[in-house]
Amino acid sequence: MSDSIVLWQAEHVNFATLLDLLEGQLDLFHRGKKPDYEMMLDIMFYMTHYPDVLHHPREDLAFARILELDPNSRAIVDDLTEQHARLKGFGEALVRALENVVNGSITSRDWVEVPGRAYIAEFRNHMLKEETAILPLAAKLLSEADWAAIGAAIQHIDDPLFGPKSEERYASLREQITREARTSQARRLTDA
Ligand SMILES: [Fe+2]
Ligand SMILES: [Fe+2]
Repeated sequence: MSDSIVLWQAEHVNFATLLDLLEGQLDLFHRGKKPDYEMMLDIMFYMTHYPDVLHHPREDLAFARILELDPNSRAIVDDLTEQHARLKGFGEALVRALENVVNGSITSRDWVEVPGRAYIAEFRNHMLKEETAILPLAAKLLSEADWAAIGAAIQHIDDPLFGPKSEERYASLREQITREARTSQARRLTDA
């Protein structure tokens, strides 16, 4: 399998981890606890500064090449491309709402909870659709030369959270991810 496909799937696993963390914070509302809004903002800041800036634009180029090679893919390609634009708008609105909660200018949880849950659902559906409908096509149709052309056509940025040189702004989010991973590993060992 191409390294590009392996990276594609690995990034989805990272995004799914963040969506789970975000959902966990929204669930705290229902248990009468205060969520960590700053962590939620870090997650959404990342979503609007890596998936929206590199992952989705790179997919758009891959989709365009798939469409050239397989005109029958038009419906799914159009659908996924449109979802990228929707997720970007949705994510940016959520960042603004969370910034306003953190700086104290809005207090209603509905400003965050309703769009937050909708964003999580839409992003999960989007990744599922890509993994079931387009990744197999990409694996079948795209050559290493296609991936090289896609890589050359896009400005590369390092992943600022999961990459080798992760940014200081995400230090506490990284610690939280590590803690969650340890907790779920311990849970699996206990259940085994
Ligand atoms: Fe996508
Ligand atoms: Fe994706």
